[in-house]
Amino acid sequence: MSDNIAVVLGTRPEIIKLAPVIHACENNNISYTLVHTGQHYSNSLDSVFFEQLGLPDPDYNLEVGSASHGEQTGEMLIRFETILETISPGTVLVQGDTNSVLAGAIAASKRDIELGHIEAGLRSNDREMPEEINRVLADHAADSLFAPTKHSKQNLLNEGIAQSRIEVTGNTVVDALYRNRSLAIKNSTVCSELGIADQEFCLLTLHRQENVDDPKRFQALLFSASSAAEKHDLPVIYPIHPRAKKRIKEFKLDVPDRLQLIDPQEYLDFIRLEDEATIVLTDSGGVQEESCILGTPCVTLRDSTERPETVSVGANILADHDPATIVASVDKMLAADGNWENPFGDGHAAERILQSVQPQVEVIQT
Ligand code: UD1
Ligand code: UDP
Repeated sequence: MSDNIAVVLGTRPEIIKLAPVIHACENNNISYTLVHTGQHYSNSLDSVFFEQLGLPDPDYNLEVGSASHGEQTGEMLIRFETILETISPGTVLVQGDTNSVLAGAIAASKRDIELGHIEAGLRSNDREMPEEINRVLADHAADSLFAPTKHSKQNLLNEGIAQSRIEVTGNTVVDALYRNRSLAIKNSTVCSELGIADQEFCLLTLHRQENVDDPKRFQALLFSASSAAEKHDLPVIYPIHPRAKKRIKEFKLDVPDRLQLIDPQEYLDFIRLEDEATIVLTDSGGVQEESCILGTPCVTLRDSTERPETVSVGANILADHDPATIVASVDKMLAADGNWENPFGDGHAAERILQSVQPQVEVIQT
């Protein structure tokens, strides 16, 4: 069997969460091939992260771009299979729950290549979300399942996945944050550039299909975020994902004055904003995790989460899209002390994952 590992990524969160795995490959002289599906391609969602995280250019870019879910996933599958034929890796690694993950998982399993799924076992139990279906399918196709927490491991066991295929590793989001938080403190000037240095503010991100593709719901969320923040006299900084930006224009939504829309941020600037924010309002998976790890209170604008650990430790509340619940949840979370535990691991998840694939890799505890 080939020692080569094909590392597949396609979107902003995959680039960020796979960066520690790629760095661990380099530090341990592990042979890997980096395959980018091209699901994200705008500089602000893609190349800016390669530059800032010190990642090499992908060996292959499948350049699928945007399309319907079926077409996008199908094109990735077709194009990735050709690459697999060429490089014959021993293992394919995918991370998370995007269409890129689903395509990578199916392609590996069709060619009978060992598949490792990083961030396995997350469940929102909301089958309306495309990501929920992607993660369930990837988990059931995978040979090795790298669960970030005991809770995610239990979800897999509940679905009949053999214990021997599952390892609790922590989430590589912690590895990335621990590596970059001090750099962000040292180098990022985002707060002064935005005129919010030493000020309290609310950080908002909204990009999920079920929130922003429904005009009434998206409008209600924009108004609710504004009212909740107004009660506490907080400005709202909203780095806006291109999907949401497109919808605001298309639906001619009214953006309240309190909301400052800015371009998607580079990683260091974004984690600086998360660290400095008084409160985070979000529908992002990664942002729920990061605010929890950084000790910033979070209100999630969804009715379910696949990161229930953030709620259990007291870092996060689910407020759905009901205006009164959002305002009350912000009130409640603003009283939180930020001293909860980090449920996502010790920052060595990437090494544990690689050790499972290549046993010579050492997990260096600090
Ligand atoms: C995808 C993932 C989602 C993840 C998010 C991370 C799926 C089903 N969804 O959602 O789970 O949270 O990435 O950010 O895989 N666009 C651009 N530039 C780009 C990419 C997209 O402008 O580089 C715009 C296009 O108008 C596109 C839209 O954003 O149609 C949606 O992009 P897509 O990749 O389909 O889904 P995301 O909403 O980004
Ligand atoms: N992020 C970023 N800039 C931004 C918004 C988010 O660097 O303007 C990072 C954030 O730190 C987190 C990841 O992107 O690591 C989350 O991605 P996203 O919300 O797009 O996807 P999800 O996690 O919901 O799949």
